[in-house]
Amino acid sequence: MDLGVCYYPEHWPEARWAADAALMRETGLTRVRIGEFAWSRIEPEPGRFDWGWLDRAVETLHAAGLGIIMGTPTATPPKWLVDRMPDMVALDRDGRPRGFGSRRHYCFSHEGYRKEAARITRAVAERYGRHPGVVAWQTDNEYGCHDTVQSFSPAARDAFRTWLAARYGSVEALNEAWGNVFWSMEYRTLDEVDLPNLTVTEANPAHWLAFRRFSSDQVVRFNRVQVDILRELSPGRDITHNAMGFYTGYDHHDLAADLDVLGWDSYPLGFLEMFRFSEEEKRKYARQGHPDIAAFHHDLYRGCAKNGRWSVLEQQPGPVNWARHNPAPLPGMVRLWTLEAFAHGAELVSYFRWRQFPKAQEQMHAGLLRPDATPAPALAEARAAADDLARIGDPGEAPKQAALVFAYDAEWMTQIQPQGEGRSALWAAFAAYSSLRRLGLNVDIVSPSAPLDGYALVVVHCLPIVPDELVAKLAGSEAQVVIGPRTGTRDLDFGIPDALLHEGLDEFIGGRVVRSESLSDRLAMAGDGWEARGWLDHYEGEAMPEMVATSGEVVALRHGRAWIAAAWPQGSFLDTLVQRAANAAGLEAEPLPEGIRRRRRGDTLFEFDYIAGEVRFER
Ligand code: GAL
Repeated sequence: MDLGVCYYPEHWPEARWAADAALMRETGLTRVRIGEFAWSRIEPEPGRFDWGWLDRAVETLHAAGLGIIMGTPTATPPKWLVDRMPDMVALDRDGRPRGFGSRRHYCFSHEGYRKEAARITRAVAERYGRHPGVVAWQTDNEYGCHDTVQSFSPAARDAFRTWLAARYGSVEALNEAWGNVFWSMEYRTLDEVDLPNLTVTEANPAHWLAFRRFSSDQVVRFNRVQVDILRELSPGRDITHNAMGFYTGYDHHDLAADLDVLGWDSYPLGFLEMFRFSEEEKRKYARQGHPDIAAFHHDLYRGCAKNGRWSVLEQQPGPVNWARHNPAPLPGMVRLWTLEAFAHGAELVSYFRWRQFPKAQEQMHAGLLRPDATPAPALAEARAAADDLARIGDPGEAPKQAALVFAYDAEWMTQIQPQGEGRSALWAAFAAYSSLRRLGLNVDIVSPSAPLDGYALVVVHCLPIVPDELVAKLAGSEAQVVIGPRTGTRDLDFGIPDALLHEGLDEFIGGRVVRSESLSDRLAMAGDGWEARGWLDHYEGEAMPEMVATSGEVVALRHGRAWIAAAWPQGSFLDTLVQRAANAAGLEAEPLPEGIRRRRRGDTLFEFDYIAGEVRFER
């Protein structure tokens, strides 16, 4: 695994670059990511390129022995471009333009901007595509950051109609698939279909789902334009993109299919503060991050990536600027996060950023250096991690134990129709992942179309649309299979199947779910050492009750190798069910002490300690 850093030569005097590059090397860094926000310096006026500074920066970094990951600058179109093409910006859900003055001010569906993005990509790739110092490319930056995948612009509306025509063929087919007879929502032509915002009450869930799929496809299409140019002009270099944490705005399996390596940006403390963690977890892990945050994404993106190649393109080095509160990590955490990425198979961890920039939006965001160029605490940790890596060497392949099946459309559907507050497929995936990890298991998070050979345990926690091939794989495997609520309960257009459940899945679980309730915490259901909440599926069929609450509800059932979770997959209920299934699968699965996590690679067992105090346990 390489270590690297995100560097912005355009922020610093040229006289400083060589010293920076030398210090990077001395720290043990071998990669440097540059260029992704530099459009206004590369092309200060339309058609007038200023390559001199970037040529010299590339030479300086290359001369120091750093491999350069060059970003295409399309996340930051310059002011002159937006002024020339004011309708290139996205419109938000309320129809307001998302204008210039920060970044990501563009609509994925705007043809004019897509051409401009291709033009600047071609220009940069022509300049540096065959430079020996450039080892990889990053397209754009964090597609979807600042909630930018969905646009409600006229360009998006027109493109959506074209997309609908390709998917449905005719307006009759669309009306039928969406059930538009309901509330007289029928259209006479596809050109009558608008975007699903600005309706009086909720729009048809099928309409939203189509729009989410379309929006995702637009990202993939936008990215592909750049990938094609880079492949042509920069042969032999990897192409990557940096995904985000807890983010599902586009289908990462689809995007990754066009990339060589999928990257992601790991900010464990920012995520702990900003996402759904309990007060207790926030307190306990305030300076470490919840022990499953980073690993969940490592394992998710490894499963999205073509050939399993993934990296951390941005690693939090200290306080960030964008969470509600921005504490510093405990001493040792930057090193721990780095080694944990390694344990999960990353090819690269690249710290964000080299040096804290004293101005503009991120002036409070730490780097490896302080604004005055003296070392910030993370610099020494990066160096320590580089030494660790040199000592450990290559531990080899990770053994397969448990697979967790996750699909992006599952999360879109539970967002569109949660049915009960907070019932999200993504967060159920996180809960299931946590249950598996607390048992010390290696987990692969895989798409429904991934092969399942070699796994002793498979968890399908919430998958409304179940592809036939998945049922065939489950039936054909020998794995114990945990199946959670909503799984198999919808067709491709959000309709409930005639048989209520995907045909084939009913056979696997020996019956079907005939009624579902979502429950407030007031209706929590407890049993021996566990508590179940949030949801209750009522089942008819041959499966036998496995967990029954003292109040009488059957919250889990078992049929052959199928373990059916009728309550929402989370907490002690899920821990109990997953442990039973893991034991039935023959896995050694005992709960680890609090805050301890494990990952096996080859003969090496990595153990990570996220607890601030002392932990004692026996192995
Ligand atoms: C990421 C982004 C970086 C920087 C960073 C700050 O989302 O890609 O450019 O803004 O956050 O933490």
